[in-house]
Amino acid sequence: MIGVFDSGVGGLTVVKHILNKFNSDIVYLGDTARLPYGTKSSNTVIKYSLQSAEFLINLGVDAIVIACNTASSVAVEIVREKFDVPVFGVIEPAARYASKFKSVCVIGTESTVASGAYVRKIKKYNNDVEIEQRACPLFVPLVESGWIDDEITYMVAKRYLGNLNCDALILGCTHYPLLKNVIKTVTNDIELIDSGDTLTKTLDDYKDLFEGNGQLEFYTTDSKEKFAQLGRLFLGKRFNGVKLTDL
Ligand code: DGL
Repeated sequence: MIGVFDSGVGGLTVVKHILNKFNSDIVYLGDTARLPYGTKSSNTVIKYSLQSAEFLINLGVDAIVIACNTASSVAVEIVREKFDVPVFGVIEPAARYASKFKSVCVIGTESTVASGAYVRKIKKYNNDVEIEQRACPLFVPLVESGWIDDEITYMVAKRYLGNLNCDALILGCTHYPLLKNVIKTVTNDIELIDSGDTLTKTLDDYKDLFEGNGQLEFYTTDSKEKFAQLGRLFLGKRFNGVKLTDL
């Protein structure tokens, strides 16, 4: 069984990629009571990540996927050190893929951008890549409100990204893949890199771990109703209800 955690419902975009590839048994934790992580300090995000990982370990998971970019950017190594199961984050695979481009832009939450994690990882693979980072804090509440294809979302995207000049754009936040259409419209031909997608593409070597019976279980730390509403938006029919927990 795989444990996946995120600050909220957004990590279900990563679950979707995993389920497109494997028939995984997944227990998912969305720490909605403390969302957003993207405006918090790294110490706070590390503390929350360790608590989320511990919750999943206590449920008996064999591996942990940190679906949240903000948590992945500051906590992967720390979670790895503390727990004795494989821990996968979303930054490294996207950074590795992005390193083949001449110029890359990274968009994410304020905390992800401030951590510089994507920049460090891309440079590790190719020091010559030109990298620009932009925080796009309004995208998360727009998605949370279900304003996926809305005129306002389009205007915000244009303001954030309209003048972008690079070959590839890392969607460095769980929620941004839902805005792919809007982002594509304002960025023309730039290749979009979905960090959940690039993570999943690196999991072939872990097939034994990720193949299961397709059993899914969801936990939230706040309103079950709100989680369910967005859960269906993110995961469609695969979403089968959610339990409330406290960390
Ligand atoms: N899950 C977060 C991320 O991928 C976005 C939402 C938040 O700020 O907590 O960075």
